[in-house]
Formats: sequence, structure tokens, C-alpha cells
Amino acid sequence: MSKKLILGVDVGASGIKGALVNINTGEMVTDRFRVPTPSPATPKNMAKAFSQIVEHFDYQGPVGCGFPAIIKKNVAKSASNIDKSWIGVNISEVFGKAADCNVYVTNDADAAGVAEMNFGLGKNKKGIVVLITIGTGLGSAMFFDGKLIPNTEFGHFYLKNQSKVAEAFAADSVRKKKDLSWEEFGKRFNEYLETLERITSPNLIILGGGSSKKFDLFKKKIKIETEVVPAQLRNEAGIIGAAAYGFQQAKKMVTS
Ligand code: BGC
Repeated sequence: MSKKLILGVDVGASGIKGALVNINTGEMVTDRFRVPTPSPATPKNMAKAFSQIVEHFDYQGPVGCGFPAIIKKNVAKSASNIDKSWIGVNISEVFGKAADCNVYVTNDADAAGVAEMNFGLGKNKKGIVVLITIGTGLGSAMFFDGKLIPNTEFGHFYLKNQSKVAEAFAADSVRKKKDLSWEEFGKRFNEYLETLERITSPNLIILGGGSSKKFDLFKKKIKIETEVVPAQLRNEAGIIGAAAYGFQQAKKMVTS
């Protein structure tokens, strides 16, 4: 198969990051380029940041984009860590118009999960695998025999004895805000995983996002029965998965 390079963009609450990805091997072939997420993170402001990334790579072609919301047919159906005015907006249209390209959008954690399942630790893993991204929020991707069940939003269930949703208790932004030690954070995260385990009965839990790099600092506190491992692709999974998604969708458009 010839080497196919696709631009993958990972939109996050604090930064919008892009890189060119070889979708045959799942490798990033450029450094990642990051633009801070504008404040307020409105469609207009974010479209500008998005087009800066496309311009930086002087890229023409389909773009795959991971976005931190429930996504149905490229439309945002929620907005927890971005401006509420995104709800109901067709992201492909807004970003595509600004950057003059075709943009295919999927949930950011789903994108990271797809990358990890195809090119990382999830490869050939059967049964239920759940990937949790730990960042400003908690993102989730769930797979059964390698197939994605999209938009699971496991950062948004309530924990026993807590009056807040899980991501308001155990995301990395909470650790920073409350200045929690890694041990304290690990304890909270274990509480989160206990509920996740009860709800999903997974065979494997993979941790992605920025804090997965620090897994060694809190793994002692993780006491659930299910195997929990940090992602192999670390923080790059979001970009790689977005590119893979963009490629798949663009191919569908050509063949259908
Ligand atoms: C959002 C998810 C997203 C996650 C990680 C959550 O607040 O609801 O859609 O995947 O943050 O960015």
C-alpha cells in the first residue's frame, strides 16, 4: 500500500494540535503543531485556530478531527469544556469553510481509542476494552471485539457518595485545581474506575491523555480487578485516530 499522509487534528479544551499521519502505519511523520484553544472557545474563534493548523502544514486534502463533544453526523450535541454555543453546530461546515477543506469530525476520545486499538495496546484485543482519556475532562471510548461503540461519555456518570459527575471529581484539571498529590489523585481515580468497572465489566482499561504519562506516580492506588494500563501512543493517539477517521470517511465519500 502506498504511503498515505492525512492531517489529523485533536481539538482539546486547552490546545488544538495537528500533525501529518501515515495512516498505513499510524505514525506521525511531522512534529505536532499546537495552537492554544481560544477563550471564549466559540465556533468563530476556534475556526480561526483550526485554519492556522491547516495553513501551517500547507495541507490540501481531507482532514480528520477529534472534538471534545458528543458528535452525531459532524454536529456537536454537547459542550462540557468548550463554549455552549457549539451545541447544534455542524463542526465540519464551520471548520471546512474556514480552512477550505473537507473536515470529518468524531469525538476526541473515540479518535484516541481507535488509534490505540489499531496501532497500540488494543491491537487484536477481543471482548470489551475501554479507553479513558485523562485531561481537562474525562473522555471515553468503548470497543467490543475491536469495534467502537461511539459517544459513550463515561466521564459524565455520577459516583457513589458524590454530588458531581465523574470528571468534576477525577479529571486532571481537578488534580491541578485542588493541588492534589498523585496519591490523592490516584485514590480518586480508583474510585472512578470502581464505578466504571461495575458499569462496563471490561476485559481491559487503557488510560490515555496527558496524565497517562504519569501513570507510574498513581498506579499504586489503582486496586480494581480489571487490568489497567497506560496507552502506548500516549498523547499522540488523538491526532493519529483523527487522521485515521478522516481517511476512512473520505474514502467512503469517494466509493459511495
Ligand atoms: C466531553 C467528552 C470528551 C471529554 C474529553 C468531556 O467533557 O463531554 O465528549 O471526550 O471531555 O475531552
